[in-house]
Amino acid sequence: MLQLSLSWLGLGPVAASPWHLLLLSGASWVLARILAWIYFFYDNCCRLRCFPQPPKPNWFWGHLAMAKWQRLTTKGSARLDMFEHISLMTLDSLQKCIFSFDSNCQESPSEYIAAILELSSLIVKRHRQLFLYMDFLYYLTPDGRRFRKACDVVHNFTDAVIRERRCTLNSQGVDEFVKAKAKSKTLDFIDVLLLAKDEHGKELPDEDIRAEADTFMFGGHDTTASGLSWVLYNLARHPEYQERCRQEVQELLKDRESEEIEWDDLAQLPFLTMCIKESLRLHPPVTMISRSCTQDVVLPDGRVIPKGNVCVISIFGVHHNPSVWPDPEVYNPFRFDPETPQKRSPLAFIPFSAGPRNCIGQTFAMSEMKVALALTLLRFRVLPDHKEPRRQPELILRAEGGLWLRVEPLSTDAQ
Ligand code: HEM
Repeated sequence: MLQLSLSWLGLGPVAASPWHLLLLSGASWVLARILAWIYFFYDNCCRLRCFPQPPKPNWFWGHLAMAKWQRLTTKGSARLDMFEHISLMTLDSLQKCIFSFDSNCQESPSEYIAAILELSSLIVKRHRQLFLYMDFLYYLTPDGRRFRKACDVVHNFTDAVIRERRCTLNSQGVDEFVKAKAKSKTLDFIDVLLLAKDEHGKELPDEDIRAEADTFMFGGHDTTASGLSWVLYNLARHPEYQERCRQEVQELLKDRESEEIEWDDLAQLPFLTMCIKESLRLHPPVTMISRSCTQDVVLPDGRVIPKGNVCVISIFGVHHNPSVWPDPEVYNPFRFDPETPQKRSPLAFIPFSAGPRNCIGQTFAMSEMKVALALTLLRFRVLPDHKEPRRQPELILRAEGGLWLRVEPLSTDAQ
């Protein structure tokens, strides 16, 4: 599966760039993580400060599809597939953070975003067809040809941004380039990678920058869309928790002129955070991970997993283990109440995995989910659909046939 996921990026393990995060090891990997860490944890999260708010037509409003949802719900409630709408939002906002590009894909079709969505679904389809694992066979099929075409679209887009940006960097020089970026607050992930040097002081080649950018697009969109979709589902099924979250957001913003969520506000939404965490427990977007044992692992009962074995770790299984989580199927945000800390192992809750190869985008993802959820609940009520969704674990945890909810605007009085 990993190999197929990598070929999404046009990279087989052999051809893969040594910078490719999912494959990296050693010094380059550490440097790559530090770079990404610096960027994502500080600079990029601070971008949330800049999410402009309604009533002016603005950036985040568009990314979040709020205007679209308002249009769709003018006649009362609308039945919407959360995955469809929220994926566009996460893709759009990542494209902005990585490339400083406004796709406006909520309103008009974007070739790039359509290509990423197509690649994700083709990988899942190919994964089910063992005989198509071999590239040369796969590329002879219609799906294989569609896959190559979509890869070209994605790569051409990224290459064009890198080419253009490198050209500006070369003509302006590093100091001028950084000054201009700082002034316009438009330093993005591509810029950071262009300015980066490896441990020998060498710049990264363009193909490595492309692989990094595409990896973040790939790793960041579906996962966050799944996390947000399922938390909306859980809050739709538990109106009392939904209302409590809404009141928390309303209270936070009550004396403000505009409904603007600041970076520091994200720590002031404890109940909403508890609801997101409980949803990530019950519906972890990434349901399993694998690890190769670099040494013999002795289990508590004395059995040994020998060095060299690959182990599949079920995040879903850990999160549903009744001896750690009593009544595991019950959605209960109070499990994560910071006021009543539980005596649980930190490894009992691992939606972002654990250890040195855990999710590099987790702070970014949590921030995006909090902002998106807070702004959504401020304007809309979500209600369950008549049909219960069935979980469908693919690359990420989806729902069979989509995750449908009813969305209705809150009355002006209620706001
Ligand atoms: C709710 C949202 C997210 C969830 C649940 C999630 C989950 C995970 C998990 C479980 C892993 C570990 C995979 C493994 O161990 O094999 C991982 C790795 C990774 N994630 Fe996320 N992720 C999320 C959002 C993001 C975002 C927003 C980004 C980037 C913008 C991102 C980028 C990555 C990258 C690059 C890796 C590989 C890190 C490495 O190997 O060193 N993720 N993610």
